Amino acid sequence: MTVGQTRAWERRWDELGKQVPQLPPGPLDLDSWFGRRAPILLEIGSGMGETTSQLAKVAPELNYLAVEVYQPGLAQLLLRAEALELTNLRLLRGDAVVLFTEHLPAGSLAGVRIFFPDPWPKKKHHKRRLVQPEFVALVASRLAPGATLHLATDWANYAEQMLAVLSAEPLLRNRHADEPGGWAPRPEWRPVTKFESRARAEGRINRDLIFERVNG
Ligand SMILES: C[S@@+](CC[C@H](N)C(=O)[O-])C[C@H]1O[C@@H](n2cnc3c(N)ncnc32)[C@H](O)[C@@H]1O
Repeated sequence: MTVGQTRAWERRWDELGKQVPQLPPGPLDLDSWFGRRAPILLEIGSGMGETTSQLAKVAPELNYLAVEVYQPGLAQLLLRAEALELTNLRLLRGDAVVLFTEHLPAGSLAGVRIFFPDPWPKKKHHKRRLVQPEFVALVASRLAPGATLHLATDWANYAEQMLAVLSAEPLLRNRHADEPGGWAPRPEWRPVTKFESRARAEGRINRDLIFERVNG
């Protein structure tokens, strides 16, 4: 970590962060941690926190939760949270699969975002991709009815996989099934990240997918 990241970690982690492997068994008490009850928006894989911090800033009515394995990224997000004076953001370090399986109750989330998950472009590595049927079923079960699962990717092959997996999940419905291909129009409110700029520069696609939880 940089000196700035290390200092931000020392200053703010104990207050704003928790390690997933060290959570007590059972549901995470988010109302106490945030100090209020509000809809929970969870972002998986917040990376360096560019998008996360901006989206938390423009949605003060949400309790915004980020889960990420990469410590320097979380430290950078702490720096951004300080700069933007965020009060509605909490950070979790660890594996989203463990968090969902062990610490998030069914129907508890108002939304889940996964922006530019690692694409694992080689075919022999596709099995490492996060967006797989079992994981999507797990995420869908934790969404409240009407809550959204929003994905974005700049890899055409992963986008196709995402669309196939989400469309096959009985608890989800494509909000943009009537749009060409079933892709969601790129929301203006989603900040342009370096991944997206690079994809544009290299002439690759960018796809957004927005599905919602149905009653089931
Ligand atoms: C390609 S980066 C994208 C970061 C960010 N969303 C963006 O758009 O700039 C994907 C991130 O997902 C994180 N990640 C991958 N698998 C994860 C998991 N199971 N749980 C939590 N984070 C994960 C990685 O550490 C990485 O930082």
